Amino acid sequence: MCGIVGYVGPRPALDVVVEGLRRLEYRGYDSAGVAIVGDNELQIAKKAGRIENLDKLIASESATRAITGNTGMGHTRWATHGAPNDRNAHPHLDASGRIAVVHNGIIENFSALRAELESAGVEFVSETDTETVAHLVAAHLTAHGGSLADATRAVARRLQGAFTLVLLDAEQPEVVVAARRNSPLVLGVGYGETFLGSDVAAFIEYTREAVELGQDQVVEIRRDGYTITGFDGTPVTGRPFHIDWDLAAAEKGGFDYFMLKEMQEQPGAVRDTLLGHLVDGQIMLDEQRLDRQDLREIDKVFIVACGTAYHAGLIGKQAIEHWTRIPVEVEMASEFRYRDPVLSRQTLVVAISQSGETADTLEAVRHAREQNAKVLSICNTNGAQIPRESDAVLYTHAGPEIGVAATKTFVAQVAAVELVGLALAQARGTKYGDEITTEFDALCAVPDQISAALAAMEPVRELAREIASAKAILFIGRHVGYPVALEGALKLKELAYMHAEGFAAGELKHGPIALIEDGLPVVVVMPSPTGRPVLHQKMLSNVAEIKARGARTIVIAEAGDAAAREHADHLIEVPALPTLMSPFVTTIPLQVLAAEIALARGCDIDKPRNLAKSVTVE
Ligand code: G6P
Repeated sequence: MCGIVGYVGPRPALDVVVEGLRRLEYRGYDSAGVAIVGDNELQIAKKAGRIENLDKLIASESATRAITGNTGMGHTRWATHGAPNDRNAHPHLDASGRIAVVHNGIIENFSALRAELESAGVEFVSETDTETVAHLVAAHLTAHGGSLADATRAVARRLQGAFTLVLLDAEQPEVVVAARRNSPLVLGVGYGETFLGSDVAAFIEYTREAVELGQDQVVEIRRDGYTITGFDGTPVTGRPFHIDWDLAAAEKGGFDYFMLKEMQEQPGAVRDTLLGHLVDGQIMLDEQRLDRQDLREIDKVFIVACGTAYHAGLIGKQAIEHWTRIPVEVEMASEFRYRDPVLSRQTLVVAISQSGETADTLEAVRHAREQNAKVLSICNTNGAQIPRESDAVLYTHAGPEIGVAATKTFVAQVAAVELVGLALAQARGTKYGDEITTEFDALCAVPDQISAALAAMEPVRELAREIASAKAILFIGRHVGYPVALEGALKLKELAYMHAEGFAAGELKHGPIALIEDGLPVVVVMPSPTGRPVLHQKMLSNVAEIKARGARTIVIAEAGDAAAREHADHLIEVPALPTLMSPFVTTIPLQVLAAEIALARGCDIDKPRNLAKSVTVE
């Protein structure tokens, strides 16, 4: 949500900034803009809609004003305050046109600040909270002089809420300054050039050396380096890190869409997530600021997450409870902290977040820690805020995921949460060492089975094209198949804008069965006939009930499940896996179905409307 790029160096800043914005497109946005300083003058271009609209604007004006300069910044905006139009697009300027600001987040006290500025005669041109910052910084510089960084620190101290701010000063063209509280920002360090980005994708083309920025910090970047301080001016040392993926990983690699490529990368995502986590028979986390005793004492687990990560949590619950006998509750992060959950020192809160910056999940983590619970996070982004605020971290190594709809990070999250289950079982002694090794080995066999499932998806693509004009599709499952059904329905909603619902199959007769009408496609995630024979039998009855009422049944079943075949209008076979690992393969056809239906309906599967990849506002 909102992408930010900043640059100082020898290259034409416009090119670097626009290219960086393109790499951040996946975060979700509805307008885009740039500001470049050249000849002590700010040049601004901004436009509602996609970056292509901004490109066209710049091209159409190029005869009368070429945007040149080596210092600049850019922004893709996901509207919060004010409609997504040209006027509200970032950057925003102060009245004199000296200061430009872009912003990600929400300044909660902006009404009071705006009123203060208006009573001093300032006229606002946009409806945004961001514009207040441009006026405040300009007023500070007029009153006190000093550097842009000084003025930014002074203003940042007055702001409440969440923000990453990046600023340019026409009179200080050699620097870009940024302030950060609760919204993402990283620094990229090149040779004679320095970058800022909402995430490293913004500058991966130029450097793989990055620096983490902490909370309440201001950074000034120059060609020769950077200076970080707290909001009070105290010098701070950032944590440098090396980015272990490259440009190729962030490109489409011959696929028409990132999502299609990322689905094919799922075996590797699971393999890399498991890699190195069993050492001498012991499950290892990546960062552990909890000791074994802490883990032994855990008597309650909450899993908090949003969207697809929440579904990974629902699968994780089954594994953790089964392996550890500790009760587990899975909660949407947005609900968790507002309902006063019962937490104690013996509670482990597992926060699952691909981005590590989802505002709802971050606030849930903070709430948990305030109540003295322990927090373990599962995250795909090194150095993000959620892992930094956690007591222990397990990284998913899925690589960059650009498609808004999560695919490879979902399977990696399932692998990671199952590893957490094994780590807890080991610490609490609810499983013997050899049992842990057996389960770990079973997980290690999963990537090959995902590959096999992916290789057999052509019939699913054909089926998708056949049913693409359906009004709605329902998904049903039981046990671990239920979260898979929820995830299948979410994917379809996100990508194809089609009405889709996931239900626990046993609940059908308590309401949803009323929705069944002639020809309605219903996707059934079948339990294993050998792994869960009782549930398998129950599910067959559920399928018979809906089929009798006219549903067109699309049954996803373990290879060789003869009984399922009898009830299926369309049978999709997936490789057999132990029950707790079956979601790794039953998910695959649902992803393919959603993507292909969406493509048949003419939707952009990488950038679904209204959605953002990482949601940094509550
Ligand atoms: C957004 C994305 C989803 C994602 C959810 C949680 O809604 O569109 O794909 O599952 O955020 O994101 P996280 O980064 O916390 O996993």
